[in-house]
Amino acid sequence: MAASKQALATLLSSSAAPLWLLASPSYADATTTARALEEIRAIVGEHMSSSEEEIDSHSINPAATHHPPGAEQRPSAVVFPESTEQVSAIMKICHKYSVPVVPYSAGTSLEGHIYSVRPGSLSIDFRRMNKILHVHDDDLDVVVQAGVPYAEINATLAPKGLILGSDCAPSAQIGGMVATNASGINAVSYGAMKDNTISLTAVLADGTIIKTRQRPRKTSAGYNLTALLVGSEGTLAIVTEATLKVHVRPRVEKVIVAQFANTRDTTDTVADIFRTGIKPSALELLDDRMMMCINNAGMTSRRWLETPSLFIRVGGVSEKVLAEFTREIKNACNAHSCQAFIPARSAEEADELFAARKNAHYACLDYGYETFGPECRMWGTDVAVPLSRLSYVLEETRKDFDSSGIISCVLGHVGDGNFHTNIFFLPEQEDTVRQVTHRMVERGLANEGTCTGEHGVGNGKRGYLYTELGPSTIDAMRKLKLAWDPKRILNPDKIFKIDPLDKNF
Ligand SMILES: Cc1cc2nc3c(=O)[nH]c(=O)nc-3n(C[C@H](O)[C@H](O)[C@H](O)COP(=O)(O)OP(=O)(O)OC[C@H]3O[C@@H](n4cnc5c(N)ncnc54)[C@H](O)[C@@H]3O)c2cc1C
Ligand SMILES: *[C@@H]1O[C@H](CO)[C@@H](O)[C@H](O)[C@H]1NC(C)=O
Ligand SMILES: *[C@@H]1O[C@H](CO)[C@@H](O)[C@H](O)[C@H]1NC(C)=O
Ligand SMILES: *[C@@H]1O[C@H](CO)[C@@H](O)[C@H](O)[C@H]1NC(C)=O
Repeated sequence: MAASKQALATLLSSSAAPLWLLASPSYADATTTARALEEIRAIVGEHMSSSEEEIDSHSINPAATHHPPGAEQRPSAVVFPESTEQVSAIMKICHKYSVPVVPYSAGTSLEGHIYSVRPGSLSIDFRRMNKILHVHDDDLDVVVQAGVPYAEINATLAPKGLILGSDCAPSAQIGGMVATNASGINAVSYGAMKDNTISLTAVLADGTIIKTRQRPRKTSAGYNLTALLVGSEGTLAIVTEATLKVHVRPRVEKVIVAQFANTRDTTDTVADIFRTGIKPSALELLDDRMMMCINNAGMTSRRWLETPSLFIRVGGVSEKVLAEFTREIKNACNAHSCQAFIPARSAEEADELFAARKNAHYACLDYGYETFGPECRMWGTDVAVPLSRLSYVLEETRKDFDSSGIISCVLGHVGDGNFHTNIFFLPEQEDTVRQVTHRMVERGLANEGTCTGEHGVGNGKRGYLYTELGPSTIDAMRKLKLAWDPKRILNPDKIFKIDPLDKNF
């Protein structure tokens, strides 16, 4: 593991693991990989594939057009286990032969999380582990396998008047959501996966099965390994089951669109809404260009002003309470020269508005192709800063984009403090886009922000994470990684570097 005998001694006696103490990881060669795959086939039978289609679909997320995998970054096989025990048996083999492993849920992550950076990698797909095991109505929790799509859990809960707290890309599954601390539109009131995960069953690199805790919501028993695994992007362990909190859906809900003359008025209104003490269940910011894309895609039956806007959803126990909330929110909006304050007329219209928000990514793509032609690509990235810095960061970023001749639109889970930029570009503009995006992330960091609000690090943002946290923190993370995954087989090269010869960003 270490670069030399002396380095090994230093590594064993240190609390952190700086990269320079390490030797490059050594993984199975082609012959050894073939032997490992044969042993794995004996466990899963036909539920394993090396077909072009499966390899292709486990190599790339078409939504992440700015950050394609290298031509050689393809798994050698995809395996579809059906139980925790099978995952454990597979990991024992991968550990024995040093085969790199990339866990794969729905593949919607945006920063190259699921790329098989190392030759011969095995992609583990959880689509067969798609069972909802228990719904505990009284305890307000569910126990599910890692491969269940969150939308399916949410739909199962709907007739009971319950909802799941976190959401993200429409097809995403629980394993991937735990691994990226997914948050989404509802996070402003229900929190991210970090807040909604009670317990996890996970398989460690050598096949050891752990359960992070029992089902009670409150505990102070020992290390919080659940929290350690949330956001670990498949680099520390493989999640096979999760116990998640569920929430009671408010009896009545109201959706409001408020439109403003400029960004500052919009973010100042958000601060004032929070100061009323009302907790909206969603609070989304869409900039002028995003509203233009929604108009352009004809996603709603209305046409909107193309100005910075808030999509607000509040819930409560009665219409009377909601009327009171609406009045307070309207006052907050009016205090910042609101241009239009439009409550949805019906539940259908309310759904339509949030469906438009949910599919904003695709509205942007439509606009891009129509305006810039079929060559158009879209770069989506996210940053988070404290709310008081948000309008400054957004305005400066817009100026920078404008003066670089780049068109982008902004949409943000502003209630939860993060925003996304979707940037349209033609292949010849890629370098310019790379530079303005770089300046945007640096601007976020300079304003006490983080390089990723909710998409995570993958292998796209490692360099920024290093800047954000500094070497000691990253070295401490690497030490933890080595303790749990001494052969560095679990999702290699993600979040931070594990190889001193890795010269990528
Ligand atoms: C249109 C669109 C909208 C989005 N909106 C949001 C949003 O609102 N909020 C948000 O947070 N994100 C959003 N995302 C990002 C993405 O949906 C989330 O990061 C999501 O959590 C990824 O889930 P997945 O099932 O696709 O995981 P994958 O992409 O398959 O995997 C994500 C990571 O988790 C690891 N992993 C997968 N399964 C396991 C497992 N069982 N055990 C351990 N590790 C595992 C993978 O190795 C990888 O590192 C959006 C993406 C798109 C394309
Ligand atoms: C969850 O289900 C509720 C209905 O109970 C629905 O209104 C909501 O849109 C769903 N959320 C997601 C993110 O699918
Ligand atoms: C997960 O997201 C929540 C809310 O956005 C945040 O408070 C928390 O720090 C995140 N945790 C990790 C491990 O990323
Ligand atoms: C442990 O972490 C999980 C996931 O972040 C969280 O939901 C839980 O509240 C934490 N528990 C304690 C006791 O801190």
